[in-house]
Formats: sequence, structure tokens, C-alpha cells
Amino acid sequence: MTPLLAAAGLRKSYGPLEVLRGVDVDVARGECLVVIGPSGSGKSTLLRCLNLLEPISGGRIVFQGEDIAEAGRRAPEIRRRIGMVFQNFELFRHLSALDNIALAPIRVKGEDRRAARERAQHLLAKVHLPDKSDAFPDELSGGQQQRVAIARALAMEPALMLYDEPTSALDPETVGEVLQVMQELAEEGSTSIVVTHEMGFARRAADRVVFMDAGAVAHAAPAARFFSNEAPERVARFLGKIEA
Ligand SMILES: Nc1ncnc2c1ncn2[C@@H]1O[C@H](COP(=O)(O)OP(=O)(O)OP(=O)(O)O)[C@@H](O)[C@H]1O
Ligand SMILES: [Mg+2]
Repeated sequence: MTPLLAAAGLRKSYGPLEVLRGVDVDVARGECLVVIGPSGSGKSTLLRCLNLLEPISGGRIVFQGEDIAEAGRRAPEIRRRIGMVFQNFELFRHLSALDNIALAPIRVKGEDRRAARERAQHLLAKVHLPDKSDAFPDELSGGQQQRVAIARALAMEPALMLYDEPTSALDPETVGEVLQVMQELAEEGSTSIVVTHEMGFARRAADRVVFMDAGAVAHAAPAARFFSNEAPERVARFLGKIEA
């Protein structure tokens, strides 16, 4: 089957610094792809390139059957089909949880205000926050804010969700509730690429795992095989470090 998104030979440099040196990744519809790797290996840069937040220096990105790397002025329209969740939530502080979620559907998609707010309420229930519609970000825990951020991304009905270390800024006790929501979405068939150090999540929810090192994919395998003792030495060493 054709992948939903496929990047081939993806390159990205910042001046003389080659951050991505020919990355090949793809994700099929309904798949959860987990990306791991040492700090500085290019994971965030990869997500930002896939989402067209950064212009690439070479290679191809095919999304929904279309080469999007040279999208130019159409980039914002394409980006709307890709939801992104960041480490630091980045909610609008002056808007309630419900309004954070309903804003883009109303402003960007021109959705009817009442319909958008109804759908936002439904999404809040989906991320297990049915009673928080009127709460402002400052009144929510980190884990709750991140779940609102996930609902906000889902509100645009993206074909693909990108998560960049969505739990690494959270207190340990709220990490689980965010991972739980992400796992439920994966089980429902939402397509996602998840950069994370949460190997428990990767074992439970990932279909495939990609290990990045120095701007390239050093190893990729179905999750069960990735975590088996057949993994290459370099991967085993990295897993040993982060799971210690
Ligand atoms: N806007 C930028 N300008 C210059 N260099 C950058 C920029 N963004 C990232 N880099 C460099 O690119 C490299 C990869 O960074 P990136 O943030 O993609 O790594 P990462 O794998 O996400 O790391 P971490 O696990 O720490 O989040 C680093 O050397 C970083 O300093
Ligand atoms: Mg990063």
C-alpha cells in the first residue's frame, strides 16, 4: 500500500551544519511510528521538515500522493492536514480550553461557531477532560494542558499527527495520562509519528520504531523486533541508557 507520507533522501542543513543527511522514513495510514535517538540527532528537525515548518535542502516528501517539498505558497494549506504537538503545549493563555480547541476550525476552516464549539466539547471528552471546557491553561496541570493541545490539533481533523517529545516537560505523575490518550488514538487508527523517550509507550503503541543517529536513520524495525535482542549493538546501548 502507498504510505500516507514518505520522505526519501531528506536533507537539511543550517549553513555548514548538515543536520539531516538523507533520511528515509514513511508512515502508513493507521500506523504509529516512534522515532528515538540521541539528543541532536535531528528528530525535531525531521518533524519540522515533514510539517513544512522548515524548507528542506534536498530530497522528497510525498504526502497523500503529492510531492509537498516544493509546495511554496500552498504550504499552509498542506500543514493544516498535519497536526503537531510540541513539548511545551503552546496553548493560547487568554483562551479557555474549549476556545483553544474551537479557534482554528472557526478562523481557518470557517466552521460554524456553534458546531465547532460542540465538536470541541466532544474532543475534550475524548482526551478525558469533559469538565474543563471553561478552564484557562494556567488552571490546568501540565498533563491536562498537553491533552488540550492534542485535542486542539485533532480539531482540524488532520490526516497525520506529529508529536515532538510531548511528555518530556511534564511532571512524572501526569506523563501517563497523556501517553494513555495517545495510545487510545493510535488504537483507533489515527496515524502518527511520535518522537519520544518513553519506551513503555513505544512497546505498547508503536507499530514500527526508527532509531536516528547523526542525521540519518541508523535502524528501523517493527516494534516487536526493534525491542528484541536482535537489535544492533548501537541501539541496544542507547536503549540501555534511557531505560536504565
Ligand atoms: N534553527 C536552527 N539553526 C541552527 N542549527 C539548528 C537549528 N535547529 C536545530 N539545529 C541543530 O540541528 C541539530 C539537530 O537538532 P534537533 O533539534 O533536530 O535534534 P533532536 O534530535 O530533536 O535533539 P533533542 O533530543 O535534544 O530534542 C543540532 O545540532 C541543533 O543544534
Ligand atoms: Mg528535539
